Amino acid sequence: MAKFYRFPKDFWWGSATSAEQTEGKGNTGKGVTNWEHWYAIEPNRFFNGVGPEITSDFFNQYKEDIRLLKETGHNSFRMSISWSRLIPDGFGEVNEAAVEFYNNVINELIQNNIKPFVGLFHFDMPYIMQERGGWESREVIDAYVHYAKVCFELFGDRVANWFTFNEPIVPVEGGYLYDFHYPNIVDFKRAAQVAFGTVLAHAKTVKAFKRLNLQSKIGIVLNLTPSYPRGNNEHDLKAANYADLFFNRSFLDPCVKGAYPQELIELLKEYDQLPVYTEEDLQIIKENTVQLLGVNYYQPRRVKAKMYKANEESPFLPEWFFDPYEMPGRKINPHRGWEIYEKGIYDILINLRDNYRNIECFISENGMGVENEQRFIENGQVNDHYRIQFIKGHLKYVHQALKEGSNVKGYHLWTAMDNWSWMNGYKNRYGLIRVDLDSMERSIKKSGEFFQELNDNNGFEM
Ligand code: NOJ
Repeated sequence: MAKFYRFPKDFWWGSATSAEQTEGKGNTGKGVTNWEHWYAIEPNRFFNGVGPEITSDFFNQYKEDIRLLKETGHNSFRMSISWSRLIPDGFGEVNEAAVEFYNNVINELIQNNIKPFVGLFHFDMPYIMQERGGWESREVIDAYVHYAKVCFELFGDRVANWFTFNEPIVPVEGGYLYDFHYPNIVDFKRAAQVAFGTVLAHAKTVKAFKRLNLQSKIGIVLNLTPSYPRGNNEHDLKAANYADLFFNRSFLDPCVKGAYPQELIELLKEYDQLPVYTEEDLQIIKENTVQLLGVNYYQPRRVKAKMYKANEESPFLPEWFFDPYEMPGRKINPHRGWEIYEKGIYDILINLRDNYRNIECFISENGMGVENEQRFIENGQVNDHYRIQFIKGHLKYVHQALKEGSNVKGYHLWTAMDNWSWMNGYKNRYGLIRVDLDSMERSIKKSGEFFQELNDNNGFEM
């Protein structure tokens, strides 16, 4: 029998986007980003050779897009500010045309009763900041904190929730371990330094934010991937614990608890991979934990014990400690190949309830990428029934976690309008709203209509 899943009043329904993936360059005198630079030197590494110059053209079409957000049931919306647009050289003069653009967007959202959630770093930074060392450099960390303060001062009277970083482990993995982000380095020790620098930049920003006494809250958005062992034996459990330490707790613990897991520190010490830091850094991290946590969840990580001894010749990587495991019978998204495991979202929320002071949190991204989505166009509309099922399947578990005391405040889908997905370009579509890449015209998908009903009824039937 069908059941109605009702959510609390004021639950945050919405979606997430990012500047580099949606805005397009626009004509405000934006500085060159790390992505624009990489695309200029290696365009062939991007799907179909498409770079970030136009993306979804949100810069020109934001009014229409916000109208569509309203129509698809948004009461909140996460976007990010482009550091390169606001401060083109990273630390110098503020670009007034960018201020005007972000003011317009934020005001338009508010006029439509949509709470602006704003991120400060979503994988893009001024290229010059990357050249000066990125998050390995103290000078860049300070420039970022300065940029954050400028944002708080300019927009802080209207933004509902701020986020320092989005998925900070991804640029570490992509840029310093597995070669899918610029600067394409493979070096664990530098990766560890970048990860530490990011946490420090985050904590310093939280500190600067608290000094301003704004009405809003500050948090971070982490992609938490529950690590499931192949079996319940000691070796597989150990493997899953290592994966959790590297990919989740390396950010979750310092940002929510104010300290790194001792086990991780010991491990890095043992292999001589500890980053450089000072006691003062650790103190800043300790004193500046987050008020709110965004959780991005797409798929879990399944691991098994590594069957051979670590090869001392190969570079030190997290995979020294575990192997991936393809669980037989797991459910796969046939349109992208990622596992779909709805209960993972519940496991994360319960873990936060039990081990992370039941911190106020929300699902800041969850979503389904689909290749060649035009296959599903019927009478001019994308009939993405698979996405509606995907959303319902996950929300069912969010609902269960809520009933069991989780402090989860909302659900945001990735994403609003189809957008440019880094190296994958426009390969996978995720939006509630289709974007025709030739005409740049928007059309609401079936999932967009479903989302509107979800907000209207504050729940759904399944
Ligand atoms: C996570 C990231 O925040 C976003 O930038 C990306 O496009 C989506 N996941 C989809 O992979």
